[in-house]
Amino acid sequence: MKQIKGLKVTEMIHHAHIVGTGSSMPERILFNKDLETIVDTSDEWIVRRSGIKERRISSKERDESTADLATQASLKALEMAGVSPDHLDMIVVGTVTPDRQFPSTACMVQKALNAENAAAFDVSAGCSGFLYALSTVNNAIQCGMCRTALIVGVERLSSIINWHDRGTCVLLADGAGAAVVSAATEHGGVLSSHLRSDGNLWELLYSADGNSYTPEILRDINKRPFHLKMDGNPLFRRAIGCMSDIAREAMSHNSMSAEDISLVVPHQANLRIIQGLANSLHISMDKVYTNIQKYGNTSSATIPIALDEANREGLLNKGDHVLLVTFGAGLTWGASILKWSI
Ligand code: ACO
Repeated sequence: MKQIKGLKVTEMIHHAHIVGTGSSMPERILFNKDLETIVDTSDEWIVRRSGIKERRISSKERDESTADLATQASLKALEMAGVSPDHLDMIVVGTVTPDRQFPSTACMVQKALNAENAAAFDVSAGCSGFLYALSTVNNAIQCGMCRTALIVGVERLSSIINWHDRGTCVLLADGAGAAVVSAATEHGGVLSSHLRSDGNLWELLYSADGNSYTPEILRDINKRPFHLKMDGNPLFRRAIGCMSDIAREAMSHNSMSAEDISLVVPHQANLRIIQGLANSLHISMDKVYTNIQKYGNTSSATIPIALDEANREGLLNKGDHVLLVTFGAGLTWGASILKWSI
């Protein structure tokens, strides 16, 4: 067995460090005013109840499919990390809107990047997809199975939105974010990951039909099969409690208090949920990153997009403690604390 500084290689502790971030947003902007012409709503209601002013909607004609957006975000993350795609051991994509049921979006990204040495697969965990992917990669790195991985959160929610439902169509949108995660012996990176789900509550947010649940032959051909259905108010009430509890668990696990956190990067579902979370954690909104105003809710993509923007805006310094926290369909929720490495 090879010896390094007195340790066998297999016994060394590997830490999973984020070494590059990237994001890719569709070109087309849909303003609240545009939605006023589609459903009975108003710019005033949308801003007051959700904080959203505009969002991005993709077009396949502009190479903005789920796999396209994921690939573009990944290329930016790889460039920042200085990592060549053939050095990737693993590609994990969080999405609920893959271009096809199979193969996975991760395999499409692998092909586009020519990342021939990676194992590629998707995770389906609603808005928590990126944190589930991060946790999976963190574990793979810690057990020595993987050295360099790409994780992506990507959605084309516009493809499953019911554009007659004002309760959802004003909130949801498209986009992608990515991060390159690399193993190092230096302490830091992902300090811990905490994941939860409660399948008893799946009916609060789901895709109404499709896949094997409704055989093709029984489908009403006039019905859009994959419409998303959401019971917003009970979700709203649960979101703040679940995210606060799991954020507190993550801080306590790392013997930290709110003062030790430099920046919170929460899932961007509703500005009022984010404010409720900050309140509950006694963290000032100055330390909470938000971009829901311009992008809406892009499900599993919100956290990696926000992380990339915060990183590129210079809001993250080496050694900072960053709290990622999420909540979404499943129900699923989770939190992770990073010691920033870039
Ligand atoms: N424009 C105008 N009025 C509206 C609209 C709209 N777009 N949508 C709903 N309303 C009306 C309702 O019909 C209702 O009218 P009524 O009182 O006459 O019945 C009124 O506004 C209040 O409706 P509520 O649903 O109680 O409004 P609420 O304050 O809860 O806000 C919202 C709705 C924004 C959906 C909020 O509940 C929310 O953000 N929920 C959480 C969403 C979430 O976290 N989802 C999980 C993650 S998303 C994912 O995983 C993809």
